[in-house]
Amino acid sequence: MASQTWNAEAYDRNARFVSDLGMPVVELLDPPPDLVDAARKSGLNVSLTDAAQMDFHAEFDAVFSNAVLHWIKDADRVIEKVSAALKPGGRFVAECGGHKNIETIHDALVSELDTRGYDGGAASPWYFPTAQEYEERLTRAGFRVDYIEVIPRPTRLPGDILGFLETFAGTFAAVLPVAERQAYLEDVRNRVRPALCAEDGTWTADYTRLRFKACK
Ligand code: BEZ
Repeated sequence: MASQTWNAEAYDRNARFVSDLGMPVVELLDPPPDLVDAARKSGLNVSLTDAAQMDFHAEFDAVFSNAVLHWIKDADRVIEKVSAALKPGGRFVAECGGHKNIETIHDALVSELDTRGYDGGAASPWYFPTAQEYEERLTRAGFRVDYIEVIPRPTRLPGDILGFLETFAGTFAAVLPVAERQAYLEDVRNRVRPALCAEDGTWTADYTRLRFKACK
């Protein structure tokens, strides 16, 4: 499958709400302020790696994730990697797209590819599990799940839905020849417009969030 590309400027313009709306999950993590301050003063040690490939061993008190896990289809592998990274008793706190997340948009992206003779479902890079399904995965991997829920969170977009599609629907559009991609995204926009665009022209995406806290 073609990979999604990321553009910091476009993300800031079209998707800044992703981090802004993630604050309740930071509260669930409940990071001790003194440790965060100490970490800040000492300079954060940042490394960039694929979550499904990370190689840490009982090093962390907590693993926190916002709006990432739905991009990783091999959920068991990332859970296993998180478990390996945590110290005994460590906590895994996260939020990601849950069951039926952006269902209207997702259905339109798939249908518009199907209509063109492609396999729209196969182009989807996303995994949006139910709370029960993800709880079973966490439990199987040895976590104790303290809290898990799927929360509907319709989200007003900062602009036209085309910005959202251009930022996030890269793997769908990449199935098509370059010359057909823009028309495809515009057809997706037209298909979801009755459901997601209000009379005043504002767009709302039908987000749901899977939010959980689990301990090793
Ligand atoms: C999400 O945060 O749920 C999400 C964002 C972009 C594409 C798909 C899902």
